[in-house]
Amino acid sequence: MCGIVGYIGSNNIKDVLIEGLQELEYRGYDSAGIAVLQNTDFAVYKAVGKLENLRNKAASFAPEGFGIGIGHTRWATHGKPTELNAHPHLGQSSYVVHNGIIENYQELKNELVAQGVSFLSQTDTEVIVHLFEAYLKTAGSPFEAFKQMRARLEGAYAILLVTTSEPETIYFAKHGSPMIVGRNRGGEKFFASSDSPLIGLAQEVVYLKDGDFGYVTPAAITLYDGSGNPAAPLFSTLPESKLSAQKEGFRFFMEKEIYEQGEVLADTMLGRLKEQEVYFEELDPQLFAGVNEIKLCACGTSYHAALASSYLFERHARIRTSVEIASELRYKEPLLSPDTLFVVISQSGETADTLETLKMAKAAEMKTLVICNVDNSSMVRLADASILTRAGIEKGVASTKAFATQMAVLWMLSLAFAKARGTMETGAIAEQIRHLRELPACVRVDDALHERIKRLSKRYLHGHGFFFIGRDVFYPLALEGALKLKEISYLHAEGYPSGEMKHGPIALADPELFTIALMPKNMLYDKTKSNVEELSARDSTICAISDKPFEKADDFIPIHDREHYMLEFFEMMVVLQLLSMEVAVRLGNDVDMPRNLAKSVTVE
Ligand code: F6R
Repeated sequence: MCGIVGYIGSNNIKDVLIEGLQELEYRGYDSAGIAVLQNTDFAVYKAVGKLENLRNKAASFAPEGFGIGIGHTRWATHGKPTELNAHPHLGQSSYVVHNGIIENYQELKNELVAQGVSFLSQTDTEVIVHLFEAYLKTAGSPFEAFKQMRARLEGAYAILLVTTSEPETIYFAKHGSPMIVGRNRGGEKFFASSDSPLIGLAQEVVYLKDGDFGYVTPAAITLYDGSGNPAAPLFSTLPESKLSAQKEGFRFFMEKEIYEQGEVLADTMLGRLKEQEVYFEELDPQLFAGVNEIKLCACGTSYHAALASSYLFERHARIRTSVEIASELRYKEPLLSPDTLFVVISQSGETADTLETLKMAKAAEMKTLVICNVDNSSMVRLADASILTRAGIEKGVASTKAFATQMAVLWMLSLAFAKARGTMETGAIAEQIRHLRELPACVRVDDALHERIKRLSKRYLHGHGFFFIGRDVFYPLALEGALKLKEISYLHAEGYPSGEMKHGPIALADPELFTIALMPKNMLYDKTKSNVEELSARDSTICAISDKPFEKADDFIPIHDREHYMLEFFEMMVVLQLLSMEVAVRLGNDVDMPRNLAKSVTVE
């Protein structure tokens, strides 16, 4: 998601800002911009696409001496990736950059428009700068205006604001989106969304907490906590290597991405959950009209998300739903009818097989929707409608957080469909929304759990194979667990529906066959238990994942007692990700870049 940088000092402001943004590229973006203030003059450059375009635009700009500056890489959420929508956003004499979503922006915008303010962009961010300037007219100081403006914002934000009335000051506020402020012995001050732009520049940094706000001048960092009380900045020293900074202390990108699932799921749901309904601003309600069937199509992990969600679409929206592997659909001369909504799911938006099926659906005049993590990707550009999953860039080749966010979007979409088709009571939808809100906490990695999985992993480094088994949505989750293990441990693993084991695979059962059993309390527990008992009776080694103790298991990984099976789904997903990672670590494999695999498969 978006990245932010800021600088106060005299050392080539332009390069500090653009190089800082370069370090944040991994977060993903589709446009970028900088604003530099020297005395009372602003220099502002913005460009769509890669930072190279911004560099070219600002090529003749060579600031000398003291100045302050802010910069931003934008990943579009409200409004297309255009120069007008790129940050920094201008008021009359101030600029702002923002990461996050202002949920009440429409209400604030209406209020400002009624006061005669005109808006240039379609973003939620622009309200921040206009609101600040509206308060500046009556407040005694820019900081007072900034405080009043901040008090009106709802949603998530990391904000930097600069104004000509205080040309040596950067105002900041953080709530729900990351922001770090740093300093060095030379008196320079820096801001960034993560450590990496600050390595080699700042010696000490403050990791701002939610609610923190204040201002920075060449002389000092002035900080207030969420209750508005002055707070002493808590400085830490920075790590020295850039790569380790990007990994933020984790051993691998995959590990970092597993740990940040709570944060990205919160981003995925931001602005999309109301009390009693799910709301996708980007979807025209007409998308649901006349649709009698859904066809989901994807590859790999995204296919598993599709398969899991097919249970939700049929259960919640009572709509016939089929699921296709893209490379199969391409050549099977499928029946594609215009009353079917064709939904492709893709982390990258570039997977060749999935893209091709989207073209087929368009040619068949179907309504098309893509669920994707990369705005402006080929699929997003081609489909009639798109929902972005907002997972941020995923660096580990084995997909983790992208899958989690796909599942969250699909769960939400099944409820939006249910509402449109009138197949669920309002109270039942509200109940599921309450559970959706629990997701960020549900996927948080517990140290004790991780430690337990680390220890257990040493028993699963050999054997003649793994069966991951489950029922209902836990069957696609079993497929995903097996795929994760295969990809990074190179051990043979299969996902299977629990009830199918006795129709053949049970012949393989012996102590060297490892069964990873997904046994959720809230979904067909007794049925799954009988299937696991059948395997246990044939001496397969059983590792059960459940909130109910299971005496026939050789190993047991406990999850929390949850009220809804989808919460059990998400918690088990984390367990499976950690298990495959820890097995791969013990086998000495390259966790982030497993052999033979590519992150984006753009060939057939
Ligand atoms: C597995 C994995 C792959 C992708 C598949 C489709 O961890 O990442 O199986 O899911 O190659 O890629 P996207 O989602 O980009 O279409």
